[in-house]
Amino acid sequence: MGVKRKAAAAILVLLLCLGSLWIQGGLDYHLHSCLKGYNHINKYQLHQLSNSSEAGDETTGLPVLSLCPGQKFQVSLLVSHLLAARAYPSDVLLQPYLSSWDELVKFMESLGPMVGLISKEIETKTSIIRQLALLSEKSPDAEFGPDAHLGNSTNSTAQKKNVVGVSQDTGAYRSVRIMIRTELSQGLVDFNHQTDSGCRTLLRLHRALLWLKLFLHKLADTPTTGRLRSPSDLCREAYQSTLAHHHTWFVRRAAELAFIALPERVFFYRLVCVQNQTELSVVLTRVVNAIGEIYNRTQKALEENGMLDLP
Ligand SMILES: *[C@@H]1O[C@H](CO)[C@@H](O)[C@H](O)[C@H]1NC(C)=O
Ligand SMILES: *[C@@H]1O[C@H](CO)[C@@H](O)[C@H](O)[C@H]1NC(C)=O
Ligand SMILES: *[C@@H]1O[C@H](CO)[C@@H](O)[C@H](O)[C@H]1NC(C)=O
Ligand SMILES: *[C@@H]1O[C@H](CO)[C@@H](O)[C@H](O)[C@H]1NC(C)=O
Ligand SMILES: *[C@@H]1O[C@H](CO)[C@@H](O)[C@H](O)[C@H]1NC(C)=O
Repeated sequence: MGVKRKAAAAILVLLLCLGSLWIQGGLDYHLHSCLKGYNHINKYQLHQLSNSSEAGDETTGLPVLSLCPGQKFQVSLLVSHLLAARAYPSDVLLQPYLSSWDELVKFMESLGPMVGLISKEIETKTSIIRQLALLSEKSPDAEFGPDAHLGNSTNSTAQKKNVVGVSQDTGAYRSVRIMIRTELSQGLVDFNHQTDSGCRTLLRLHRALLWLKLFLHKLADTPTTGRLRSPSDLCREAYQSTLAHHHTWFVRRAAELAFIALPERVFFYRLVCVQNQTELSVVLTRVVNAIGEIYNRTQKALEENGMLDLP
């Protein structure tokens, strides 16, 4: 049995690697880095505890979530990043948004090497946006904010004043809407061909976020009658009604196979330090609501700019 499972796992790794099409159906996922990722996940046994992470939601007055000892994934950190990503009136700050993804990647890695592989693709996406943000900070053009290049840049003192003083949150990539405006005005978004624009990359993350949101929502769901469904089934269903629409037949098959290896429900209790389904539901509902808020804002921004189908 053990040997069989291992062989099946190895085949899956190859399928997923060769598929190379996970998030968007492109070629930015090479065999080499894929296999490296697999080794990395097998080796990973870290038990790091972050100490600065209490997530209180001041808007709903819910109690803070506490750290869950012994877990790399911290649900309290995830929620606090998500809450921190909300910007007035309907924007999303990219830095906490990407930090939320860091935590979600840990979540996926905890589900085993198969789903962990998927998370590698997510990591390449988050690092593309981080790289763009770094480059834009270095470039003098972007220094004055998103609109500098639109008009005559000899008069950018006004824009500069608005931006300077927010320290780390400066630059063309500080929020979703600013990034969209900047990339559009610089002609960086290609509506017909695949590029590594921030907008296009965000769209890939955005689609994956819907899948995770739906999966967590299904996990939180507690039917009054009948027994609880297996996380494996729930994850596959969530996938089929979200990400699968954007994937080729080949990737869909590989992904669905990967979800078979998902852990049982008790694993998720331990992961967020709860005793039973009732408590799991409470915690996950908060996560789902926080994701929903960010998802809706991003969706609106992308939709308003006709970016829901970027290649
Ligand atoms: C957490 O941080 C506080 C101060 O910020 C420190 O006194 C304490 O030792 C830290 N605990 C752990 C487990 O690192
Ligand atoms: C910007 O304004 C200056 C002075 O008003 C003018 O000399 C220059 O040609 C303008 N540049 C552009 C690109 O419009
Ligand atoms: C630059 O913009 C500011 C504020 O928008 C305006 O008051 C100022 O007159 C402008 N300067 C020039 C040279 O156009
Ligand atoms: C779940 O666990 C909590 C705390 O241990 C307990 O108070 C509650 O009654 C339990 N609920 C169910 C449905 O078992
Ligand atoms: C997000 O939008 C959907 C559909 O418009 C809505 O049903 C849902 O309540 C919204 N969620 C949040 C958290 O705002």
